Amino acid sequence: MKIAFVGKGGSGKTTLSSLFIRHLAACGAPVIAVDADINQHLGPALGLDEAEAAGLPAMGDRLPLIKDYLRGSNPRVASAGTMIKTTPPGEGSRLLRVRENNPVYDACARPVELDGNAVRLMVTGPFTDADLGVSCYHSKTGAVELCLNHLVDGRDEYVVVDMTAGSDSFASGMFTRFDVTFLVAEPTRKGVSVYRQYKEYARDYGIGLKVVGNKVQGPEDVDFLRAEVGEDLLVTVGHSDWVRAMEKGRPPRFELLENANRRALNLLQTTVDSAYDRRDWERYTRQMVHFHLKNAESWGNERTGADLAAQVDPGFVLGEGVAASV
Ligand SMILES: Nc1ncnc2c1ncn2[C@@H]1O[C@H](COP(=O)(O)OP(=O)(O)OP(=O)(O)O)[C@@H](O)[C@H]1O
Ligand SMILES: [Mg+2]
Repeated sequence: MKIAFVGKGGSGKTTLSSLFIRHLAACGAPVIAVDADINQHLGPALGLDEAEAAGLPAMGDRLPLIKDYLRGSNPRVASAGTMIKTTPPGEGSRLLRVRENNPVYDACARPVELDGNAVRLMVTGPFTDADLGVSCYHSKTGAVELCLNHLVDGRDEYVVVDMTAGSDSFASGMFTRFDVTFLVAEPTRKGVSVYRQYKEYARDYGIGLKVVGNKVQGPEDVDFLRAEVGEDLLVTVGHSDWVRAMEKGRPPRFELLENANRRALNLLQTTVDSAYDRRDWERYTRQMVHFHLKNAESWGNERTGADLAAQVDPGFVLGEGVAASV
């Protein structure tokens, strides 16, 4: 299952992603955690110290390796140079699985121990000013999008992405790559403004969008969120002393997390798990092709000097039944 946490800066995306990741790990589930946010804080939120976080390999620096591995022997993708972030897999492409070892994980993922269970952590690397403009070609999140589009994940396997709600993810189609998108919102006008923008994009693409209220202090906050986002409000989370202690560098054992917050995390997991039955790999593949053609036309063809529409393999559908190519 692929899960995104999005929301306004400072809303609590990283905090809630990290709690959800800890929760899944505590259940013994296989987890890949991905930091694709502008502010790269997921490593520290999972307990890494500054030096460990700074030493994580950046996916953005390893794009050639990622592209070369994923294109495999796909005859429609002649070289890594013509592979852009939206290039879809086809016959001959190599696909990623959550539980396997592969050269992409070797290069880009590092194990993080959480109360005895390890998760894999991958990070895009720090964003520069150029990443925040319209520079699609060098997009940091492009490496993540490529991986998601080549990743075949099953039930009870989790890929959790801490992500910005920026325009980059809308232009590329990144926002359509998830079974569930948790929009973290504080009970303020600014907090819900990102929801409105997201909802508009989400509606056109059938995105499973759920709002997680954060830093909620009482019934008035809940009423406010309910009035603003209606049925999309899944659950609310209040101030957590556990989180505060963790931020002081003294993380208590995860089993000591407040009961209300534990219940909230359980509900997130139930929501994700129940999305499995609504999965539609054909639509998933169709959407990646849609955004690839859009990106090809708007900048990719010109940039690579190739007709990138020819990369689309019309007979290919990503899915759990697709045989791995070696
Ligand atoms: N439920 C909570 N209880 C206590 N502290 C919280 C809670 N949620 C968030 N915080 C604190 O609020 C601050 C911002 O949270 P966080 O870093 O998770 O937000 P973010 O959306 O990832 O921000 P950014 O946009 O900077 O990446 C952090 O110091 C975090 O510890
Ligand atoms: Mg963050």
